[in-house]
Amino acid sequence: AMTTAELEERVASVKQRLGKKLFIPGHHYQKDEVIQFSDATGDSLKLAQVAAENTEAEYIVFCGVHFMAETADILTTKQQKVYLPDMRAGCSMADMADIYQTNRAWTKLQELFGDTIIPLTYVNSTAAIKAFVGENGGATVTSSNAEKMVSWAFTQKERLLFLPDQHLGRNTAYNLGVPLDRMAIWDPIKNELVHECPLEEIKVILWKGHCSVHENFTVQNVEQVRKQYPHMKIIVHPECSREVVAASDLAGSTNYIIDIIENAKSGSAFAIGTEMNLVNRIIKDHPDKQIISLNPYMCACLTMNRIDLPHFVWCLESIEQDFESNRIIVEEPIASNAKLALDRMLALS
Ligand code: 13P
Ligand code: SF4
Repeated sequence: AMTTAELEERVASVKQRLGKKLFIPGHHYQKDEVIQFSDATGDSLKLAQVAAENTEAEYIVFCGVHFMAETADILTTKQQKVYLPDMRAGCSMADMADIYQTNRAWTKLQELFGDTIIPLTYVNSTAAIKAFVGENGGATVTSSNAEKMVSWAFTQKERLLFLPDQHLGRNTAYNLGVPLDRMAIWDPIKNELVHECPLEEIKVILWKGHCSVHENFTVQNVEQVRKQYPHMKIIVHPECSREVVAASDLAGSTNYIIDIIENAKSGSAFAIGTEMNLVNRIIKDHPDKQIISLNPYMCACLTMNRIDLPHFVWCLESIEQDFESNRIIVEEPIASNAKLALDRMLALS
């Protein structure tokens, strides 16, 4: 078997041979062994922006999950090729909204609400869902701009359908002053709307999806930290449930969390509720601060972790040999319709 040093050397030599023809964006949740080679590191908003801005790289090897690589393919030119080092690097949240279920839901919601509803989708969704949203006048959102995008949606229509993460949708609408009892839940399996207030008072319809990583942070975790480390500030990602966000001190996107820690005084203490690779990296980068994971067992994203050094090397070397096996291509008309939704977001970000 190859040693880590040998694999790293092979990555370095492909990077050297391809130079500016190769561009490697890496999401904050990626493993250190991969992220050390990325040309740009960021949250999903930043990575969508850098993909849209880069017009010179011929090969974009996306270290992240499938929906991010799809977004990169949609936002780059026809000549640029996007690759995902392991095709099994999906996202369980994105998989919770399929296009068949979404069309079925939309038909029913149109019957109930007529033309008073606009769809928004978290970028953590398939290209087909983004295309559906784009075609119906809506936009994508990320955890960095969710409040801005939800506010925008309310300038367009009376109510909105938020796909596929109920928690980001609920936390965002709540911060904007929408009462919890005026948010309904769309159950895609039962194909039904679950609501407390009269239909006409519903402002937000939340798709019943979630992130299986961030759902592992619980109110009990928060209570435990409060008891054991009362001086710690608790900061979580808005993919955590409303109860967890409410019990914490701060909530925000990956970039927000990093900024807070970076700007905190030496000696400050934090318990962080987000993905494990990022939390470990933050701990390592801030030896002057006391930092722990909000969940003591840590929460790893299994699909992010599928991008490891051996897959990365194999993908890079196959590109040089013109193997297209790891290429991500979003077909028309999905690509153009999805781009409508992404461009509406990028224009406002
Ligand atoms: P952000 O990068 O927008 O913070 O999203 C987190 C996430 O779950 C990505 O899969
Ligand atoms: Fe999907 Fe959650 Fe993993 Fe992000 S952390 S890729 S939302 S499962």
